Amino acid sequence: MDFATQPVLKVDQATIFQGIDPILSNVSFSVEQHEFVFLIGKTGSGKSSLLKTLYADLPLRSGKVEIAGFDLNKIKNNEVPFLRRKLGIIFQDFQLFNDRSIAENLAFVMKATGWKDKGKIKERMAEVLLLVGLNNSSSKMPHQLSGGEQQRVVIARALLNEPSILLADEPTGNLDPDVADGIFKLFQEINKKGTAVLMATHNHDLLRKYPYRVLKCEAGKLLDSQTHDVSFGSPY
Ligand SMILES: Nc1ncnc2c1ncn2[C@@H]1O[C@H](COP(=O)(O)OP(=O)(O)OP(=O)(O)O)[C@@H](O)[C@H]1O
Ligand SMILES: [Mg+2]
Repeated sequence: MDFATQPVLKVDQATIFQGIDPILSNVSFSVEQHEFVFLIGKTGSGKSSLLKTLYADLPLRSGKVEIAGFDLNKIKNNEVPFLRRKLGIIFQDFQLFNDRSIAENLAFVMKATGWKDKGKIKERMAEVLLLVGLNNSSSKMPHQLSGGEQQRVVIARALLNEPSILLADEPTGNLDPDVADGIFKLFQEINKKGTAVLMATHNHDLLRKYPYRVLKCEAGKLLDSQTHDVSFGSPY
């Protein structure tokens, strides 16, 4: 009998489109719950397009994708928010509301995703802020935090609903190398606690330093270091 767990993400023969243009074709790969995976490729090669397809921002027109228990071939528009609650989505630009405190930023997402009990909201908020090392910052405004601290808030926000997988699109792109390293370590900690991570990056120092699996967008295909010899080469 097979006791292996289901992968958290399974892509089978998918084509990734921007409008009518195919960007990546024949995309097939799976990510297991414990995995940390880098997504690399030159600028314009399709990393963000792939991630957007995975969180249902771009439609899946061809092939199969199952992610966090959702079948993207069958998902209806009104189910997309439920999918997104199971995914932690992190972008390069921080996207915090600048006119609200950190606590208000987090509470906004929690209310929008069905949290009602004030005590539980407070408790979960404190937990995620502690996890990212910002337990004393809930009353601060975003502009009172550094870029790296703001990115930690964004990560805390992505963790609120205990996602099965984090999809991160160049989360350290705007940060200085030391701060980026700290953010990266935070991702590793989150991964060790059982959340899969798929992280798009141009940071080839990270690739050299941490021998995780690599998916590479190249010439309209997705190469997988599990089955191909993927070279890091130049980051651009
Ligand atoms: N909104 C859009 N409408 C039409 N085409 C787009 C759109 N966004 C991206 N593209 C095109 O899709 C292709 C892949 O872009 P994508 O943003 O996925 O690349 P990327 O690998 O994330 O690049 P970068 O490293 O610069 O972020 C590019 O040719 C780009 O011009
Ligand atoms: Mg991109």
